[in-house]
Amino acid sequence: MKILILNGPNLNMLGLREPEIYGTDSLDKINAELIEFKNKQNLDVELDFFQTNHEGEIVDKIQQANEIYEGIILNPAAYTHTSIAIADAIKAINIPVVEVHLSNIHSREDFRNVSFCAKNTLAQIAGFSKNSYKLALLGLYEYLKNE
Ligand code: DQA
Repeated sequence: MKILILNGPNLNMLGLREPEIYGTDSLDKINAELIEFKNKQNLDVELDFFQTNHEGEIVDKIQQANEIYEGIILNPAAYTHTSIAIADAIKAINIPVVEVHLSNIHSREDFRNVSFCAKNTLAQIAGFSKNSYKLALLGLYEYLKNE
């Protein structure tokens, strides 16, 4: 099984960026912990990681992933709240996407309460900081195994 972990804009700044909201770990550290987690949990899955600040690149990656991966864990970051293009790309593919947020977007500013992506995703996990990725991986893995 292959799963893509796809991260959107400004998540390359994790660790430096608003640590009181997003924590002090870098994205590399969070990714490394996710690999450790899947090894400890004996999940038979290969993870690939990609981060970009560009909306179109996220759309490209989602489209390409359809041919390569069984599922996607996606943190669209600010594009969650603005991007019809990313929402459409998720709808256009045949593999499940789990939307992830470090923060609880529903308890923050009003504009963050809306996700254009969520209508087209399998599930959303928000508010568990870096552990949101681990919970998303467990959920998606179990879902794919039982499909
Ligand atoms: C985020 C929440 C978004 O509202 C924000 O724009 C981000 C990060 C999160 O992981 O909590 O960049 O997706």
